[in-house]
Amino acid sequence: MNDDGSASGESVLIDTVGALWSLRGVYDGEAIDELDHALQSAGRAMDDGADDELILAAALHDIARSPALGFPDDCAHDREARDWLTPRFGERVGWLAGAHVAAKRYLVSTESGYAATLSDQSVATLEKQGGAAVDAEFTKHSYWPDAVRLRRYDDAAKIPGAQAPSVHDVIAVARRVRLAVLPTP
Ligand SMILES: [Fe+2]
Repeated sequence: MNDDGSASGESVLIDTVGALWSLRGVYDGEAIDELDHALQSAGRAMDDGADDELILAAALHDIARSPALGFPDDCAHDREARDWLTPRFGERVGWLAGAHVAAKRYLVSTESGYAATLSDQSVATLEKQGGAAVDAEFTKHSYWPDAVRLRRYDDAAKIPGAQAPSVHDVIAVARRVRLAVLPTP
């Protein structure tokens, strides 16, 4: 622990490894578990040439579903991800992960045909998340275009057996983000 009470870089990375691995065997109504979903999301971001922070936000956008973190099983997993990620990996990673539900609601509202591309589970949760809507709190933000990109990685990351980076690969990205954004020991 650092003098200011914040976690050290290595302990953040160790916690992140643990949180990711704890997603093995956790299902949210999709055909793949949450660990494969996280890794495929990171892979889609890498394929798209995303920067490290966006790749990491894609990998960790559903991290609040990790049993290791102890969040309640509720509809706030986007905000819980933001709150967990921001002090560890910086404001942009937290914001992008925290916007992934708002981005779904926006795309359903504004892009014809988008809703038909969603998984059954994603459609089922849409109403609980407030339904189709354009939320100005998010859409006016300078990070918003990247939140929409993240949402598309999320939607494309539900394919059984699809190629994906490893946990080790994601942690290498996390290490770079830590050093770039929060250069504490
Ligand atoms: Fe997701």
